[in-house]
Parts: sequence; structure tokens; C-alpha cells
Amino acid sequence: MNMDMNYFINLLKEVFMIKYDETKRVFHLTNGSISYYIYVNSVGVLETLYFGEHLEDIGEVAGIAGANIDNCSTQYFDKKEGVEKSFDDNYKATYARKEVSSHALIDKRGAPIIIEKKNGSYETDFRFSSYKIIDGVPSLKTLPSIRNADGSTLEVTLKDVNYDVELIYRISILDKNDIIIKNFEIINHEKDDITIKRAYSMELDLPSCHYDFTHFRGRWSKERDKKTNEVMDGYQAVSSNYGRSSHEENPFVYLENKDNNEVIGFNLIYSSNFTFSLFSDYMGGLRVLYGINDEDFSWKLKTDESFETPQAVISYSYQGVDKMSQNFHKVIKENIIGYKKEKEYKPILFNSWEGCYMDFDTEKILSFVDASKKIGAELFVLDDGWFSNRDTDYTGLGDWWINEKKIDLQKVIDQCHKNKMKFGIWYEPEMVNPGTELFKKHPEYALGNYQDKMIISRHQFHLDFTSDEVIENIFNQMVDVLDKYAVDYVKWDYNRVVYEHMSTFLSNEEQGRVYHLLALGYYKLLDKLTKKYPDIMFEGCASGGGRFDLGTLYYCPQIWCSDESDPVQRFFIQYNTSLGYPLSTIGSHANNNNLTSYKIKAELALFGTYGYEMNPKLLTEDEINELNEVADVYKKYHKEVIEEGTLYHLCDPNKSNYMSMMAVSSNKNTAIVFFTNLLKELDQYRFLKLKGLDPNKYYRNNLDSRVYSGDYYMKIGLNLSRFWLWEFNSKLIILNAI
Ligand code: GLA
Repeated sequence: MNMDMNYFINLLKEVFMIKYDETKRVFHLTNGSISYYIYVNSVGVLETLYFGEHLEDIGEVAGIAGANIDNCSTQYFDKKEGVEKSFDDNYKATYARKEVSSHALIDKRGAPIIIEKKNGSYETDFRFSSYKIIDGVPSLKTLPSIRNADGSTLEVTLKDVNYDVELIYRISILDKNDIIIKNFEIINHEKDDITIKRAYSMELDLPSCHYDFTHFRGRWSKERDKKTNEVMDGYQAVSSNYGRSSHEENPFVYLENKDNNEVIGFNLIYSSNFTFSLFSDYMGGLRVLYGINDEDFSWKLKTDESFETPQAVISYSYQGVDKMSQNFHKVIKENIIGYKKEKEYKPILFNSWEGCYMDFDTEKILSFVDASKKIGAELFVLDDGWFSNRDTDYTGLGDWWINEKKIDLQKVIDQCHKNKMKFGIWYEPEMVNPGTELFKKHPEYALGNYQDKMIISRHQFHLDFTSDEVIENIFNQMVDVLDKYAVDYVKWDYNRVVYEHMSTFLSNEEQGRVYHLLALGYYKLLDKLTKKYPDIMFEGCASGGGRFDLGTLYYCPQIWCSDESDPVQRFFIQYNTSLGYPLSTIGSHANNNNLTSYKIKAELALFGTYGYEMNPKLLTEDEINELNEVADVYKKYHKEVIEEGTLYHLCDPNKSNYMSMMAVSSNKNTAIVFFTNLLKELDQYRFLKLKGLDPNKYYRNNLDSRVYSGDYYMKIGLNLSRFWLWEFNSKLIILNAI
């Protein structure tokens, strides 16, 4: 594209997406569906005027700007003249809604950026200096970020009133998705060092605190337990300080307006510690702050050095929760996942873990390969236990050479190929067991090594990925295997958290960098490997779903959702996860469990990536047939309907006895509905109202083989009252337009 063309596109963008009204000093970001208005007030503070459904004309700024609702004193004492004066008339700082609040000044509701200067001051007060409108969403230099996005970015340069510190504030809007992306970059122009004490990614001041707040807390085997509470008075926060994003709290959260259909979802393109905080103030407003957790964080910047924060992704919906979810699904699929083969058919995966754990030899694995083929598996994954002396979880991590006495990898791969199957393997690159060659040679590679009693968890230490030397060592070991063998898939696990966050590679004063550098180290290794092996699919994992986040999805198109194999618990985990993440990312398998039939587990797994995890040799003929039936549905419909279609949540198991979701293909010709009940129900009058169909098309359903219009299914519903619903009964219903 030539320069003139770019110039023309930028002009158009300015007309349609981001406008600046110089007279009013108001920016308007819009994609025709939503609007975001920012006011540059007379002293250069950015005030938030409006964020919501598209609004063409903001009217009189004074009528809505924070200036009007504040009546607190903002006088100051002029030391030179010895008199008390008033700040600018239009600037009453205390309760104004701001984009970047000051710190250690009048506004006490929390600031996104806190910096310690040479003189000991923590004060920050950023004011407007200049702006740029950029086509698209610029990539970050040091972190995974939104890619290939059609949209526009407003880049405002702010300068601190008292210090030579610059803040670049980027706010982007996507053309065809109601998504806003925010981040900051701090640049030190002082001749002395400054220390960043807090570097959040965003602030959003809402004019009401009348919201319900939903977050997803959990633990191993109970990931993303949905919790909804009223926004409390005062301060509340959810966070992680474990060095990974998400077992305890997932970085995906949302606010649901109690008065209308407004839902605002938030997520962060980051895989480590975060804090999402709400402060509902004394004037009825709500301040949202989101970014890297500042606990034990500090980052020194020398002259002209900069620090960029992860991107916060905000999904806005004025049509309820599903629209908020769908916006996230779209941005993740189109602008975060980068796997080269994402658009291709994904093979049905069989994972060896729950079928044999580490107790295997070549013969057993060969027999698993053959048996898994019989249930439609197309990719065989050899999980933990193939390397070094790894027969238990006390040993082996860090010594990534094949245990040739235990497993003939080439023979297994040949057998896969004979069966026309692909082959995948398990790694846990960021860990080391004591007793390994790696630890004996390089004890300094483990975090915690500065003390005599090093905390051990799952019998392992966390490697010090702040160091390039450590990353390089693991990279080279992985390359030795991946170069030699035909590997199509890698499961990347992470089974402990960071406790002692001290690195022997860093100086004392650099220890506040450790958590963030570990995250950067994780991305560095993923980046090197995904670039060297672009055809390999990397699946994320962390003791189940402990690192289910957008930073991981940037490199790994899917993430193992949970080790939980109780299907009822999994209904909740998968349903809740899908509120923030697309089904194509949710690693789910039909697995060992005696509670219900394999059929239910497989049908549920279909609403995820689909795969198997059991001893395939113990399956009965009936079970093999059932699983093959679901595999056929996968092969026929999964790509078009579940991966690329639109997801609707029909019944929330957190609120009722049912769990139901449905996916509709983009041409609206095919839909798949999963319905299950938890407790037994008999003789109920029960119609399941569907969503997202074309009201004018006619669809045959495979439940009673009848044909009804889309309108009928959405207004009257699928008739489920004909069926008694036994405990944990499920139905997989396919609708085809005729
Ligand atoms: C974690 C994963 C499992 C399995 C084991 C192997 O717990 O979640 O799926 O890979 O590690 O040790």
C-alpha cells in the first residue's frame, strides 16, 4: 500500500472511528455500535464522559463532566504570592470521572500508575500533551498483544506536571466487535532513575455502582467457580499473586448492570499476577482498575527507559451477558490466537494420562494407540513419564531426554502413522526436580535457592525463567527431541506456583522484577518454540486449568480446562469457562469416571476441543459405539458449528437444575444444543427456548424429527416435556435447516 492510500485510510478512520472536536476538546471513539467519549479538561486531565451504546451527539460537556458533580474544595496556596487560589474553574478533581487518575493528590479512589521519584515523592499527575490517531491496534514490544485487528487507536501522550515522566495512553476500538483495548507505557525522561510501584493497564470510571460483579474463583479440579455478588460499598478486588493467572481467580470478570442489559467484561493479555479492583465511591460512582498485581512489584527505569503494561481487553454489551461473551470469543479467535493451522480441521485427541499415568512401557502404549484408533482418535498424546527416570512425580523434570529403557518413541510414532494418526508429547518446561542432572549441575537455576529450606511443591522447584541462560538450556533440550521426532503437538504443563520470588540472577534491588520477568520468560520460550515449529500445536495446561488466560492463548490455541473428570462438576467448569473463552480453546475430553455413561461425557466434551482420556482397552463394545457416534458428530459439525459458530448460553447450572448451551453455524443452517439436568425430574412441562436461529428458516431436530421454524424454536422452544429426565441425563440435539 502506498503512502497516499494510508493517508486516505487514516482520514476515513478519523471521520468514522475516532474524532476529536477541538472546540469542545472531546474525543469520540465509535464503531457505530458503541461510543467512548473522553474530555480533555481545561487543565489537561482526561475525563470520561461516556462509555456505552453508540451515541452520536454528546451534547453539552458541562452537563455530564465530573466538574458538575463535585463540590469539594480544590483550592491551593500559592507560596510565591502567599495567597490562596482556586484551581481552574472547570477542574474539580475529587469525584470527576477520569481516564488516568493522579496519585498522592486530591483523588483518593486509587490510581493506575504509582511512581517513586528520586526525591521520595510518590505523586503522579499526568496531563494531556498531544495525541495521534493510529490505524489498527499497535502490537506491544515486550508482551503478547492484539494482532491483525481492524480498528483504530487513540494514542494520547500525557506528561507529569512536576516530573519529566511521560505516559503514553493507548485506547483502541475494533471496527466490527464491541471491544475496547487499553494500555499504558511509562517513559522516564528524568536524569535520575524512577521506580514504578504500580503499573496497571487501565482505569474506567463508571457513573453508577449499581452492578453485580461476577468473577471466577477456584482451585485444582474446581476451576472457574462462578461467583456473583452485588458490588460492595468501598474497595473490593480479585487477584492472583501465585505467579500464574488463574486457579484461584481467573483474569476474566464482568459487571452486570442491575437496571438494564449493560454488561461490561474485562480480561488481561497476561499470564501472571493481576489485580482487578472496584471502588464504589461516596458519590455513587465506580472506579475500575486493572493490571499487573503491584504486590512485590517494583521496576526501576533509567533515563529514557520505558515500561509497557499488558493490554486490558474490555467487552461492552448492551444486550446482556451472551453478547459480552460473544465479543470476547470473536476477539480471541480473530485477534489473539496465532496458531498457523487454527483454521484447519483439528484431529480428535487421545491423551494417555488417565489411562495409565506414568505406568507404561512401549507395548502398553502401542496397544493404547491401536485401541484409541477404534474410538476415532486421530492424534495420540503421550503424557507425563516418557523422559529421564520419570516413573513418579519425584523425579525427572528438567532432564528432557527420552527414557529409552521405558519407551521406544520411534516405534510409537511409527504405529501412529500406520494408523494414520498424529503424535504429541507432554512437557513441563518451567520446572525441575531435585536429584536431576540439571539440578545437580545448576542448583542456581531453581528459584528459592538462596535459602536452606527451599519450598517444594509436587516435589519440584520452579526454574528461574528471569534468566536467558536457563531458558536457553530448556530450549536446547526440547529442540533435541522435537528436531529428531515427528511431533505434531506439545502439551505444556505447569504444576506448581511461585512462592519464593527471589532470583539469584538478579541484584537485590531488582527482585521486584521477578514475577513479571518470569512471565516474560514463559513467553520468550513459547515464542522461540512456536516460531521454530509453527506446525506444532501447543496446548496450555497448569495442573488442569490454572493458567487459562489470554497471554497463553496467544501461543497455545487451546488450554486443558481442568483435571476434574466428574462430569457434573465439569458441566459447571465448561459452562463457566465458556462465558469468557471460546469453546475452541477449552480442552475437554471424555474420560475415566464411573459416575455416568461415556455418552454424556463425550457429548459434553464436544462443547470444547473434544478428545479422550481413559484406558481404551477397557471399553465395552457399546461404549465404543457410543463414542464413535459422538466422534462422527465431531467430524461432521464441530469445525463449522462449535469452533466457528456462535455460542449461546441457554440454562445456567449455577442458577437452575439444567445446563444448556447451543452453538449455531454462521450461515444459521445448523445448530447443536447440549442439554443436561442434574437432579431427576419427572412429568414437567418443559420447553427449552433456543437462541440465534434464523426465525424464517425451518429446522428439523433429531430429537423428535419434527420440523419447526426458527421463530417457533426461539419463542415456544424445543419440547422436552415428552422425556423423563433421569439424574444427569443429557441430550445432544442437532437442528438442520431444510
Ligand atoms: C497435570 C495435568 C494432567 C497431567 C499431569 C501429568 O496435573 O493437568 O493432565 O498432564 O499433570 O503429570
